[in-house]
Amino acid sequence: MGPRRRRKRVPEGEFQVSIGGLSHDGRGVAHVDGKTTFVHGALPGETVTFRYLQRRRSHDEGQVVTVLKASNNRVEPRCAQYGICGGCGLQHLAPEAQIAAKQTVLLDNLRELGGVAPLEVLPALVGESPWGYRRKARLGVKEVLRKGRVLVGFRERGSSFIADVDRCHVLHPRVGNLLPALSDLIGGLSIRRRLPQIEVAMDDVQCALVLRILDPLSGEDERLLKDFQRANDVVFYLQPGGPETIRPLDTALDLRYCLPTHNVALRFLPSDFTQVNSDINRQMVDRAIGLLDLQEDDRVLDLFCGIGNFTLPIARVCARVTGVEGDAGLVARARRNAADNALANLCFYTADLYGELDAEPWLGVEYDKALLDPPRSGALQVLPRLPACGIRRIVYVSCNPGTLARDAGELVNRHGYRLHSAGVMDMFPHTAHVESIALFERD
Ligand SMILES: C[S@@+](CC[C@H](N)C(=O)[O-])C[C@H]1O[C@@H](n2cnc3c(N)ncnc32)[C@H](O)[C@@H]1O
Repeated sequence: MGPRRRRKRVPEGEFQVSIGGLSHDGRGVAHVDGKTTFVHGALPGETVTFRYLQRRRSHDEGQVVTVLKASNNRVEPRCAQYGICGGCGLQHLAPEAQIAAKQTVLLDNLRELGGVAPLEVLPALVGESPWGYRRKARLGVKEVLRKGRVLVGFRERGSSFIADVDRCHVLHPRVGNLLPALSDLIGGLSIRRRLPQIEVAMDDVQCALVLRILDPLSGEDERLLKDFQRANDVVFYLQPGGPETIRPLDTALDLRYCLPTHNVALRFLPSDFTQVNSDINRQMVDRAIGLLDLQEDDRVLDLFCGIGNFTLPIARVCARVTGVEGDAGLVARARRNAADNALANLCFYTADLYGELDAEPWLGVEYDKALLDPPRSGALQVLPRLPACGIRRIVYVSCNPGTLARDAGELVNRHGYRLHSAGVMDMFPHTAHVESIALFERD
């Protein structure tokens, strides 16, 4: 074991500061005696008192105690546990101001990390409501003896404790309103101490709840779960081991969501990757298709394609689409989705897009356009392949502005593309997550 790091003592008491900016993770930024201090719960333009949480060499961290002069953008958070629960970080900022802040994060990242700026900033994609949008989530479960019950919900900010929330406003209400009932249900199970997590997966109407179980259920547990399913219109799945062990408690759901403008329906399993916000997903697919400017004879490469969320809509319009994805299960679902939607002009490959790609058969072919939707780590390794395949237009969907900016710098400065446009999409309201889209072109 290495030497124990001693935590720096923090000054006691409250300190008054003026907040100059908002950090990329939604904290107010102040300068105290020349040192940057990130203050949870504070907004630009405000004067607040705060107490220190941590001191580090490069910066300090604090928590607002009193807002002495409030920003015009400050709003009352809906959640009673706001500031404690780690599920959200921006509820105190008006939704329009959240989007403006995320756009600043995107443009700052592009400039500072990529050395690039878009010719055009796209209008932000905004959902019908910034509440009740989350259809995919991982909730923690823990019996807390001190409270005499089981807690179900997101973890507290910066801690492994579960936040004590009786209603979550960002989860879809089917689940957000069900937390107390789930807590009572699990509290009555024999394995209540051996059930650490619930995975939520909703389609357009149905709700699957995957229970991670470390011990088998008793007969009475099964009966309680079945009664709960019937009463609350949810379907339980059990996961005794890795994701491959997930099975329904009794009858499996046929989970599927629709993309009506593209006449596409996509089936998925509860453990599959799906976009968390279905309203924004529909708008995002429309925008991606618009930016690709698809022509009948286009050949398109869709990298990190998952179950075919973009691949199938693209295939409705153009000559041929190739989807590539690292998870063989998702590729199987994508193939089946293509067949279910009577689409024959597409093909799918399983490949590690961060690995060695020289022998990949889909790379020996010419394409006109590409769609990239990588995980947080971005798509750096595959970028040099794109100009080599003849690709002139790239639409890049990103959940991490840092890696998008890095990759944008590569595409522009090494591979001869122009960053035509970029914009944010409000996929995760009230959190600091920034989802964005960018269009690159090349002659
Ligand atoms: C942000 S999701 C996008 C999925 C899909 N485009 C959609 O909209 O539903 C990223 C996808 O990248 C896949 N992925 C992660 N690492 C990968 C890798 N090394 N190679 C290929 N695909 C990978 C994940 O399985 C996931 O499906």
